[in-house]
Amino acid sequence: MRAHPDQATALQTTAYPATAPVTTGAKEAVLLVGGKGTRLRPLTVHTPKPMVPAAGVPFLTHQLARARAAGIEHIVLATSYLAEVFAPHFGDGSALGLHLEYVTETDPLGTGGAIRNVAHRLHSAPGDPVLVFNGDILTGLDIRALVDTHQRARADVSLHLTKVPDPRAFGLVPTDADGRVTAFLEKPQTPEEIVTDQVNAGAYVFTRSVIDAIPAGRPVSVERETFPDLLAAGAHLQGMVDSTYWLDLGTPQAFVRGSADLVLGRAPSPAVPGRCGERLVLPGADVAEDAKLSGGTSVAAGAVIGSGARVDGSAILAGAWIEPDAVVRNSLVGAGARVGSRTVLDGVVVGDGAHVGADNELLGGVRVWCGARIEPAAIRFSSDG
Ligand code: GDD
Ligand code: MG
Repeated sequence: MRAHPDQATALQTTAYPATAPVTTGAKEAVLLVGGKGTRLRPLTVHTPKPMVPAAGVPFLTHQLARARAAGIEHIVLATSYLAEVFAPHFGDGSALGLHLEYVTETDPLGTGGAIRNVAHRLHSAPGDPVLVFNGDILTGLDIRALVDTHQRARADVSLHLTKVPDPRAFGLVPTDADGRVTAFLEKPQTPEEIVTDQVNAGAYVFTRSVIDAIPAGRPVSVERETFPDLLAAGAHLQGMVDSTYWLDLGTPQAFVRGSADLVLGRAPSPAVPGRCGERLVLPGADVAEDAKLSGGTSVAAGAVIGSGARVDGSAILAGAWIEPDAVVRNSLVGAGARVGSRTVLDGVVVGDGAHVGADNELLGGVRVWCGARIEPAAIRFSSDG
């Protein structure tokens, strides 16, 4: 790990946790929403990942509403990729009972750089807790409990941790018997590095002065640089393992699953626009009477579901058209896209404006690019006999 003289100095001179005053609750949060969402393409070609609709509203709405419900009043969105689409949608946040601000990085500054870059917008005092969230996590985390843990431990940073069967795509966070973090290993490469199944779940409480100590004006990864450096400097990082619902929506299949779980009520959110259940049909959608919608399917405004179509566990975005007798499972059909009659989709993403002709069969991870055209009866996985 690289040593950062600036940060080490700041840590020594700040001399917390001994002097950090204990306050109650957290009023401010930073949301990291500047990533390119590469693994979600083509969903993220025109839309940044947090703005892709899940259960009928841009995914970010769920995170904002959950933060508000936990007592957060002021949220700064750290934007970069397709930054211009956030403010027109969420404005000043008053519709959600929040005060929202936006800070855009011209060149992406990484997770730590993005947090440091918004520090001038925070009102918290040096010893106050500030929440930081990755912008692609769907979770039932008890946000107040994380802040309580932070304040009780008088920690510099506290991290929500979750246990996963395969931790390789995450940041590994071993802790001692008291929950104190002993190491931070981002995306382990070798079997020896897999020392725990506890991973960074993408929600932190920072004591505000720790944010100010992150180097400014250059890219910084909080996972690869800030956390390891803080640990090396003897700072107190506290982990809180919470086994509630947790999903990183970084891949198409995870995104589709997350949207369906929101509709089904398995993933808690105050922002689902309707009653939870097998289906969520938004006003302005047109669903044939004999079409069957199940498994947490959402159908957005202007979408049409034809006669005899069956849609299970899927998200049908605005203006999409599912023609008669098509079968769509565990898939996302983008805005204005069209799925032809009798076509079967399972585990597929159809990009905005794409047309999949009739009598195709697309399975298991196929991504149809935005605006693409697939001729009728052009692709099958099984024999047609
Ligand atoms: N503003 C800004 N600028 N935001 C960024 C930047 C940047 O340069 N880079 C990434 N982000 C945002 C992304 O939009 C996302 O919300 C969050 O930071 C995390 O980035 P991802 O690209 O989704 O990272 P990851 O999923 O591979 O890994 C992270 O999340 C895991 C949990 O899901 C890490 O924090 C892991 O340690 C963690 O286990
Ligand atoms: Mg992610």
